[in-house]
Amino acid sequence: MRRAFIAGNWKMYKTPTEAKAFARELRSALADVKDRDILVGVSFVNIAGVVEELKGSQIWVAAQNMYYEKEGAFTGEVSPVQLKDAGVTHVILGHSERRHIFGETDEMINKKVRAALDHGLLPILCVGELLEEREKGETEKVCKHQVVEAYKGLSREEALKVTIAYEPVWAIGTGKTATPEDANQVHAFIRKVLAELYDQDVAEKTCIQYGGSVKPENIDALMAQEHIDGALVGGASLKLDSFVRIVRFQ
Ligand code: G3H
Repeated sequence: MRRAFIAGNWKMYKTPTEAKAFARELRSALADVKDRDILVGVSFVNIAGVVEELKGSQIWVAAQNMYYEKEGAFTGEVSPVQLKDAGVTHVILGHSERRHIFGETDEMINKKVRAALDHGLLPILCVGELLEEREKGETEKVCKHQVVEAYKGLSREEALKVTIAYEPVWAIGTGKTATPEDANQVHAFIRKVLAELYDQDVAEKTCIQYGGSVKPENIDALMAQEHIDGALVGGASLKLDSFVRIVRFQ
């Protein structure tokens, strides 16, 4: 009953010129794919060009971060109102690179989720444990904490607008993927957390993507798992052939 949702996160790759050209190629290569949701998460400077190229297509455009204030003296930041006006539909929040390189806290991420929803943007909330946390058997504890904190203050209707991306940090850009079964177990656990926070219906309707070294070779096995509804793809989303193959998972 959950629709598949494949997202590419281009991170800090591609210039505006490259991003526009790539979006054009993607649009034509995926024109016939209508039975699943597709999104690209692009750098702020690439939003305008990519939105223009994808206008009228079924591919959504996301920002990879934002600030939680509507406007103000916040030099260097980008607001939800600006993003909405620029034509993005979604915003990736709490990515592990934001948490661990830029020091984003659960409290900031919660404010960003709140602000996104207040301004009509759909959050893709990233959660996931570090290698040392996994080794200490803390995967569930960490994911639960990140989910509970990020959803603080959200109504049931708002919760239904959030997509979760489970991204074990040790699997990001390393070539190591969680086994489909291990990932599925964590996804099932996250669904249980949502059922505790809200109800079974929210748990069952929420799209939970897996992220971390997703590639053409492992997407089919990942998507075959009951609780894996999609993917947040980094490196393999930067090349046309590999992203198209991932979107066309079987
Ligand atoms: O947002 C995407 C993730 O960080 C995964 O990146 O596919 O390069 O491992 P990756």
